[in-house]
Amino acid sequence: MLLLSLLLLGLPDITTTQEGHMKDYKYGYQGSELYDKKPFCSWTCLLFTLQWPGGFCQSLNEETLCTIPESIDTWTIHGLWPLRVLSCCNCWPMFLSDVQELQVELTERWPSLVKTKSSFHFWRDEWHRHGACAACVEGMNSPLRYFQICLRLRGQFDVYRLLEDAGITPSCERPYKVAEVHSVLALFLGDKHEIQCVTDDQGREVWFQVKIPLSRNLTLGCDHHGDAGSDPGWSLSPGHPCPPQVPFYYYPIDHQHPQQPCG
Ligand SMILES: *[C@@H]1O[C@H](CO)[C@@H](O)[C@H](O)[C@H]1NC(C)=O
Repeated sequence: MLLLSLLLLGLPDITTTQEGHMKDYKYGYQGSELYDKKPFCSWTCLLFTLQWPGGFCQSLNEETLCTIPESIDTWTIHGLWPLRVLSCCNCWPMFLSDVQELQVELTERWPSLVKTKSSFHFWRDEWHRHGACAACVEGMNSPLRYFQICLRLRGQFDVYRLLEDAGITPSCERPYKVAEVHSVLALFLGDKHEIQCVTDDQGREVWFQVKIPLSRNLTLGCDHHGDAGSDPGWSLSPGHPCPPQVPFYYYPIDHQHPQQPCG
């Protein structure tokens, strides 16, 4: 525990909010007290975030940037994020060999959809931004365990099938209402999940992401104050809660024209 706290505190990628802790570390104040105070582990809720490739490509400004690997035809993982930890740290390096045994499954379930970023870079970024802080919980305290948990959660939440069973399938023509989709998913993802949209170049609301709140022990739902959408930690990511009054589109996946699935 002390070792972890020293690792987290002692390395360069430290923001001003942590300056106090840095000072404490440098001047040798009590380690145990530091560990309790440090921001990395103070979270109580996680967001498990899945993305829909057919919509995700609409969130990229640059036309040619998106790629959907041929084998990808369903919801993929974006990440598992401790809530209110603004940015974690680069203090715990991750290597491909750490997740070698998961590589095939991760490639299938957690692909990069951005041409300029390899899937491994995507995983490593997520580990640095979020995973190294999720690692405060015993069951997630290594890259291998963290990614295993994510894959397990992805298996648990088969959003495509849940929707399909309720007659909600990707379409270029048929818009859906937030209330309709929310009521279907609430049965499986809890009432507090959030459906997120981007606005495409024709001004349509397009569904691209769903955020599922989980507590520290990974049970569904979590009492964080305020909704996930207004959390300052996520204001940097594209998208917004799909507006309740405006029907949105659940675009199909088009591997050839990922950014123009509807012509
Ligand atoms: C998980 O955590 C929540 C919130 O802290 C708690 O209410 C619930 O009882 C816990 N469930 C289990 C199975 O430990």
